[in-house]
Amino acid sequence: MKFYTTTPLYYVNDKPHLGTAYATCMAEVLNQYRQLIGFETLFLTGIDEHGQKIQQTAERRHVSPQAHCDEYAKNFISTWNNLEIDYDIFYRTTDPKHKKAVQDLLTRLNAKGDIYDQNYEGWYCVSDEAFYPEDDLIDGKSPTGKPVEKISEKNYFFKMSKYQQILIDHIKQNPDFIQPESKKNEVLGFLAKPLEDLSISRPKSRIHWGIEIPFDKEHVTYVWVDALSNYAAAVGMFDDPKMFEMWWNQATVQHIIGKDILITHTVYWTTLLLAADLKLPDQIFAHGWILNKDSGKMSKSEGEVIDPLQVVKDVGLESFKYYISSEIRFGNDAPFSQEMVVQKINSDLANTLGNLLSRSTNLIAKFYDGAIPAGTSDMTELKTVGLNLFSKVKNAILKNEPHTATAEVISYLKMINQFVETKAPWKMAKENPEEAAIVLRDTLEALRISAILLSPILKQKMSSLFTSLDYKFDKSKAEEECNNWYGLTTHAKITKPEPLFPRQ
Ligand code: ME8
Ligand code: MG
Repeated sequence: MKFYTTTPLYYVNDKPHLGTAYATCMAEVLNQYRQLIGFETLFLTGIDEHGQKIQQTAERRHVSPQAHCDEYAKNFISTWNNLEIDYDIFYRTTDPKHKKAVQDLLTRLNAKGDIYDQNYEGWYCVSDEAFYPEDDLIDGKSPTGKPVEKISEKNYFFKMSKYQQILIDHIKQNPDFIQPESKKNEVLGFLAKPLEDLSISRPKSRIHWGIEIPFDKEHVTYVWVDALSNYAAAVGMFDDPKMFEMWWNQATVQHIIGKDILITHTVYWTTLLLAADLKLPDQIFAHGWILNKDSGKMSKSEGEVIDPLQVVKDVGLESFKYYISSEIRFGNDAPFSQEMVVQKINSDLANTLGNLLSRSTNLIAKFYDGAIPAGTSDMTELKTVGLNLFSKVKNAILKNEPHTATAEVISYLKMINQFVETKAPWKMAKENPEEAAIVLRDTLEALRISAILLSPILKQKMSSLFTSLDYKFDKSKAEEECNNWYGLTTHAKITKPEPLFPRQ
C-alpha cells in the first residue's frame, strides 16, 4: 500500500516561519505514522518560485529572480533539515522538468479545446496572486484586505465552468475527498454559484517571471496553474508512466494545505486534472492556522512571526512536534506560546512517560539486579488494552487525527502508572518476588508498546528509551511488535536512562 503526502509549495517571498513550519511538521508527523502503520510512503514539499509577487520581491532586493529563488531555496532546505523533515522530494518550480510538465499540461488542454483567449478587465491582487471581480472588493481592497490593481489585457482562459457539475458530483460521492467536513461544505457552498472560467496566463509585458505559454510566446502561465501542477509532475505526470501509475494512480494521494488555499486546490487543481483526464487526489486536507497574539493568522504580511528555529532552541524539536500533534486538533486554528508547550510536555511526557520509565527501571535495578525479569502474565486489562493500542492509533491516523493517537497512548500510560501504583511491586518484591517480577515485566512491555506508538513524533527520545531497555526497534515490524506482549529480552540488562523530559 502506497501513500503520497504533499505540503503546499511555499512562496519564496518569505523565510519559513512558525505557520509554514507547522504545516510541514504536521505532514512529517503524519508521514512517519503512515510508515509505522505499514504504508510505503512518498513525501513531497517544496517552493513556489514564479509570479508577480516573487518578481517584485527580487526587484526590491536588486537581485535576479533566479538568484533570489536559489537563496531562499537554501533557507527552506536548511530550516527543514533543522526540523528533521524527512521529505523524499524537495520540489522547485524553476526546475526545467517542471516547466516542461506545465507546458505539456497546457498543450493537452489546448488540444482538447478547453482554452480560449479573451480580453480581461478586472482587479488583480499581487499578494494573493488572484483575480477578483469588482463586486468582491471591500473598500477598494481584496477580500483579504490587500491592495488590488486594475488590469485590462489579453488573457488565456481555461474552461473551468465546464467541469463544475462533475466536480460537485465527485465531492458528494467521495465524502473523504475534502476534509475536514466543514471545509467540504465550504467548497460546496462556493460551487453553488456558477463557476467562472479561469485566467491562466499573464502578458510578458507585465510579468516575465513565469513559464511561457506553449502556444503564445508573449504570455506566461498564471502562477497557481504552474504551482499546482507540481504534485502530479513530481511523480511523472507526462514523462514517467511507470512512476505515475505507482505514485499517483495506485497510491493514496493526499494534499495537506492550509485553509487559505482551499479553493485553488479543491476547484482549480481538480478541474485542471479532470480536463486532462487524470485521476483526482484522494484527499485534500485543509488545516487551521497558528494564530498570532491578536488571534489573526500568523504571517509576515500580518506582522509578527515566530522563528521556528528559535522555538526549537527554547523547547526542543521533539517537544515542539509533540505539542502541535497532540494539543491542536488537525484542522483547527490554535494559539501558540512556549509556555503552552512546556505545560503539555510536563503533564504528558515528564510526569507520565518519564516518571514511569525511571520508576520501573529503578525498581528493576534494585530488586532484579538490573535485568529484565521473566514473567508470564495472565490476560490482564493492562495487556488487553496494550495489545489493542496499535489498531487504535492506526485508526486515528487514518482519520488524520494525530491528537487522538497521542491521547490514546497517554491514556494508556496513565493506566500503566495506575497499575504500578495499585500493585506496589516495591512491597510485593519482598513477599512475593515472582509476582512482582510479572508486574514489572508487564510494566516494561506496556511501556515499550507505548514508546513504539509515540516514536513517529519522539524519534530520538524513544530511541534512547529503547536503548535503555536493550530493545532493538524495527519500524517495519511495528505492528507485529505491538501485537506481541513479550517483545523485550528476558535477562537483558537495563541501563539507567537519562531523564527523558527534564521538567522545564
Ligand atoms: O499559498 N498557520 O504559499 P504560502 C498555519 N505558494 N499554517 C500556515 C500559516 C499559519 N499562520 N501561515 C502559512 C502559497 N501556513 C502558495 C501555495 S501550493 C501549490 C501553492 C502554511 O507561502 C499553510 O499550509 O503563502 C498555508 O496554506 C501555506 O503555509 C501557504 O504558504
Ligand atoms: Mg500565503
